[in-house]
Amino acid sequence: MSSVREQYLEAMGITVWSRRDVDGASPLVSDVMEQSWQELRESVQGCMQCALSHCRTQTVFGVGSHEADLLIIGEAPGAEEDIKGEPFVGRAGKLLDAMLFSMQLSRDSVYIANILKCRPPNNRDPRPDEASTCTPYLERQIALLRPRAILALGRIAAQWLLKSDTTIGKMRGHEFSYGEHQIPLVVSYHPAYLLRSPSAKLKSWEDLVLVMQILERDS
Ligand code: URA
Repeated sequence: MSSVREQYLEAMGITVWSRRDVDGASPLVSDVMEQSWQELRESVQGCMQCALSHCRTQTVFGVGSHEADLLIIGEAPGAEEDIKGEPFVGRAGKLLDAMLFSMQLSRDSVYIANILKCRPPNNRDPRPDEASTCTPYLERQIALLRPRAILALGRIAAQWLLKSDTTIGKMRGHEFSYGEHQIPLVVSYHPAYLLRSPSAKLKSWEDLVLVMQILERDS
């Protein structure tokens, strides 16, 4: 980290977050966990539970560390993600990488997934029935990962996860909790929106700072 940035964060009362030691699990436990991830990945790959399965090139399961503290959840794969089989690989993905870099994180140190595992045609919004059908996969990913914090990117992910119809402008900047384990959840703008509205990047950075504070607080 550059010393200027360090001083800046220190002046804001933010301690730089470092990942907890996750090597404590016994080899047996981690083998079982990896097997569960593999089984889940295969279930998603073969999923035919909704009509999106007929128009996908491939499913987009998720990417990152199975020991990540931070889970980032987007909406659904777009055209490039459908081709590559990885979330956030288009222009919005490049911006997400830069956002992670500003938090001293990377694609490999967090976990990135979407509400939907298949691309909706013409990148239309996911329908509630599609989200309902697909969410058990995401819930299983969350149960396996047990992240310390979730960052929901964009209105669709935020409203779906929080079961709310509040606007993103009202949801962002606050800490919510998700699920029975009350995982801290922060909402922020989708990187695709930030590409269209760069002036929202300052608020987005504030949200990322909130995420870093949560990770630091709960470490
Ligand atoms: N937008 C999303 O919400 N998810 C992706 O994977 C790509 C773009």
